[in-house]
Amino acid sequence: MARLKRRLHGGDVYAAARELGRDSTAILDFSASINPLGPSPHIWNAITGARQLVSHYPDPDCWDLRHALAQSWGIDPDHIVVGNGSTELIDAIPRALNIHRLLVVQPTFSEYAAAVVRAGGQVTALYADRRDHYAIPIDRLCHVMDTGRSEGFSIDGVVLCNPNSPTGQACSAEDVVRLAKAARRRNLWLIIDEAFADYCSERSVLSQAASWPHVVVLRSMTKFYALPGLRVGYAVAARATVRRLQRQLPPWSVNMMGQVAALAALNDTAHTEKSVQFMAEERQRLAALLATLPGCVTIPTCANYFWVELPRRWRARPVVEQLRREGLLIRDCSSVPGSHPGAIRLAVRTPRENDRLVQALSQLLRGKS
Ligand SMILES: Cc1ncc(COP(=O)(O)O)c(C=O)c1O
Repeated sequence: MARLKRRLHGGDVYAAARELGRDSTAILDFSASINPLGPSPHIWNAITGARQLVSHYPDPDCWDLRHALAQSWGIDPDHIVVGNGSTELIDAIPRALNIHRLLVVQPTFSEYAAAVVRAGGQVTALYADRRDHYAIPIDRLCHVMDTGRSEGFSIDGVVLCNPNSPTGQACSAEDVVRLAKAARRRNLWLIIDEAFADYCSERSVLSQAASWPHVVVLRSMTKFYALPGLRVGYAVAARATVRRLQRQLPPWSVNMMGQVAALAALNDTAHTEKSVQFMAEERQRLAALLATLPGCVTIPTCANYFWVELPRRWRARPVVEQLRREGLLIRDCSSVPGSHPGAIRLAVRTPRENDRLVQALSQLLRGKS
């Protein structure tokens, strides 16, 4: 059997299920950070009601979804482009905006760099300081943007993940506005990935993005709306930028079930409110439990996951592998540039599931498994 290549992202319950000879539903996935309350229950009627649309191509304009998003954000639909997950938009950005030299703030999500490299460009990095809990180094970032250079080469784009994955750190909306101004002065593109911003909406700059000609804000319906299998994400930007992005997307990339489910999920404000409330409470409870793990450092988070550093003599990989054998998937972050050899990322799930994970981790670290 072919050797599996190293997994860069979380969420591959299928591979784990094959390895363990279990059904994928028997795997507890803490490696992808998805709303533990699941999607809005309204999506099922929406999908069933749209079943006859399977025999048509999907709406290439994502008209209804774009209009609903525009209404909820108070912007014009022409400022929105929908993609097959925000990953498709991340992939299109370097080609669409001619970004050849991108600055990233490590440790961060790997797809920004991967997309630029795929498009033939180069990546340079600024490193958040571990002693500072990986806080996003805004002053240093503004300085680099003001000079337009990093490590000796000119940059033409900067990406900021806010809140950042995998660290959970976030900067304020005011700081992002500072970055947008620095980007404007230097004629740089600023890409702001708000995939997890539903959990800290006061830090979002989405509603301002339409009026900034050099900024793209990315959003995902995967995490908070719990629709990872349907692949829906969107970008908000100036009209001209949206047109440039659209030209790089394949036709019909967003399937119709994804469009109708995303629309139903967006309209279910009761579920979204419940989800925000649930996360605020369970995140706090889980933080307290993680604090009891011997020798582990857990940093405060603005998102629905925790960056945890294992005690000094532990490496992430064997811990990830041992938990995997028990059907618990967690994210090994030790190879993320700027990281720590014992860094793992844990999604916040339901109380029972979180208890199970903490118990398994605790036994492992105490040498009982
Ligand atoms: C920070 C961040 N942005 C974007 C994505 C891509 O999400 P999707 O393509 O499912 O919308 C991910 C997925 O893990 C992520 O962690």
